[in-house]
This record gives sequence, C-alpha cells and structure tokens, in this order.
Amino acid sequence: MGVDRITGEAQDITAKISAHYVDNARNLPWRVPPKISASGALPDPYHVWLSEVMLQQTTVAAVIAYFQKFTKRWPTVRDMAAADEADILAAWAGLGYYARARNLHKCARFVTDSLAGVFPSQEAELLKLPGVGAYTAAAIAAIAFGERAVVVDANIERLVARLFVIDTPLPAGKTDIRIGMDALTPKHGAGDFAQACMDIGASICSAKAPKCEICPIQTHCAAHAKGDQERYPVKPPKKAKPIRKGRFFWIEQDEKLLLVTRPEKGMLASMRALPDDNWAAGTDGHGQPPLDGKWQLYENIVQHSFTHFSLEIDLAVYQSEKIVTNSDDNSWWRLDEIDQAGLPTLYAKAVKWMARQKEEDRK
Ligand code: ADE
Repeated sequence: MGVDRITGEAQDITAKISAHYVDNARNLPWRVPPKISASGALPDPYHVWLSEVMLQQTTVAAVIAYFQKFTKRWPTVRDMAAADEADILAAWAGLGYYARARNLHKCARFVTDSLAGVFPSQEAELLKLPGVGAYTAAAIAAIAFGERAVVVDANIERLVARLFVIDTPLPAGKTDIRIGMDALTPKHGAGDFAQACMDIGASICSAKAPKCEICPIQTHCAAHAKGDQERYPVKPPKKAKPIRKGRFFWIEQDEKLLLVTRPEKGMLASMRALPDDNWAAGTDGHGQPPLDGKWQLYENIVQHSFTHFSLEIDLAVYQSEKIVTNSDDNSWWRLDEIDQAGLPTLYAKAVKWMARQKEEDRK
C-alpha cells in the first residue's frame, strides 16, 4: 500500500489527531498547552530550542529535570552564552552525547553575539545554528514560531509508518514517512500537530504492545487493519556492536578521589573523569596504570553502551600508601561531594560500584 493512498483522508486524520491533543496533551514545562495556544500564544523559542536539543537522544522523562535545572540557572539565551562551557558540561552530566552540550553553548553564543539574542524563525536559518539539524530546525520553526514545517522524530516515524504501512526499511523508508507527515501537517498549528503526533507515538502507538483500542486514528491505520503493527517502522538488519575493553584507575587519598579532565577532542571531550587507559571508540585501552605502585584489579565491573560499541570496564584500585601528587590540588574531589563533579554516566557508574564494594568490605 504505502503513501500512495494518502488522499482526502489526510484531513480527517489530522482533525482527529488535533482534537485528541486538546484533551490529552502531556503537560511539559517547555510547552504552551493547546487550550492556550489556540488563541495564538507561542512558547519561548529559547525553551523550545533547549528542550529539543535535550530531547534529541533522550526520553521526555529524563529531560524534564534537566530542562528545569538549566532554565533556572540560565533563564535566557544571553545567560547561557555568558556561562563557562565547563559549567554547562557539568550540568549536562548524565544526559549523554556531550557534543550536544558543547554545541548548545556555541549556539547560545552565536544567537547572543550575532543575532542580538533572537532566534531565527525560518527553518533554513535555524539550520545554520550549531547543533541544529533538520529535525530540530523543523521542530523549532513549527513549535516556537508557528511555521508550517514537517517534523519527523522517532515517535512520528513509527506512527506514520504504521498508518500508511510503509514497507521500505529505514533509513530509506524515511523518504516516504516524510511524504506521509507532509500530507498530514496542517497549514496552521503545525507545532501543536507535531507534538500531538509525538504524544500519540509515545503513549499509544508505542514500539511494543501499542494501545490501538484507545487510538483516535485506529480506523485509518493500515497496520492495525493487517494486525501487524509491531512490524513498523521496518528496521534494517541489526549490526552486532563491537565490545571494547577499558580500565579506570581509582586513586584515593584523604577521602578524596583523583579526577582528570578528558582531552578536548574525542569521546566525552573536556568532561571530568577518572584516570583511564585511553580506551576509545575504535580501540581497547592499553591497560597501563598512570602511576607505579601496587594495584588491585576488579574485572568487568561496569558495562556501558555507546551508539557504535559497548565498553566493558575494569577498575584498578591504587593500593600503595603515599601518592606523589598533592591531594590539595583541585583535581582531587571529596568523595562525599562526588555527585557534583559532573561525571559522565560511565564514570558515575564506576563510582557507584566502588561505593557498593566498600559497603561489602565493611560487612
Ligand atoms: N520529543 C521531541 N520533542 C518533543 C516535544 N516537543 N514534546 C514531546 N516529545 C518530544
């Protein structure tokens, strides 16, 4: 079947999705609720931009607290532009994909310094901003400025692929999915319409066990008619992820832990971290400790999944008494304040593992 069958039915589908949103929209801190947006009110572009960047690879549930923390600390794009990158990276810790945080800061500076603090409203102009790709540009144009832009995120992809049984596997199937969403997107209210589709995608048209019985467009859905909803969107065959090995080094003195700042280039660039053995996306680490002395090795204490590989981590704990480095140096973090160090999740997992290990040893 596919997208050829989109005809006059599109208007009907759009109307049902929009009506469902009025009563069922999720109440999210970056949104203007549909009953208020109906009178033409639009959300703050800074809020829309920030939320959309945060939501790029992260769930709504995880983003809410970060969004609130960021907007409290940096209420405007000018405030964010004036911040230190290190503070933004530390506040971002735990959200992952740290290039987003660096681009966030670059973008805040660009908007502040070159655009007098005003976000552009057109998709083509938004696309020029650091960290703003096709999806984010369309989402900001539609949600923050009421432009008619075609917004396709993973939730919308699933909903549209099912509605029109798009059989071409991703990523090639994205072309037809976009044609489908274009046919559905209304002239006015494209932002609310996109968010209505996202909400249905997240809470009804879920990847597993969709709740078709409460779906407002169930009677239009070709996948539902075939009873084959979970097949869509059709995914390409999964490539096995390589597993890499790395080692972290735990060097503790006077209830403080030695931390380092990672190099400016490469994975988790410029983030605070435990010393490690230079594991990288393409290679295992060398396993060599940064200091001579006695080390106790704990194998495979933590696993972490990155987009293109998984990492298994060993932890080597420094056993020798005296360390050459002075523990008053500011790379030593008090262990009782370690959750404020802004460690990426991978390292935070190792710190948690060590806390549990110490607890075990005390028993
Ligand atoms: N995912 C990405 N953008 C979103 C939004 N504005 N609302 C809900 N989920 C989203």
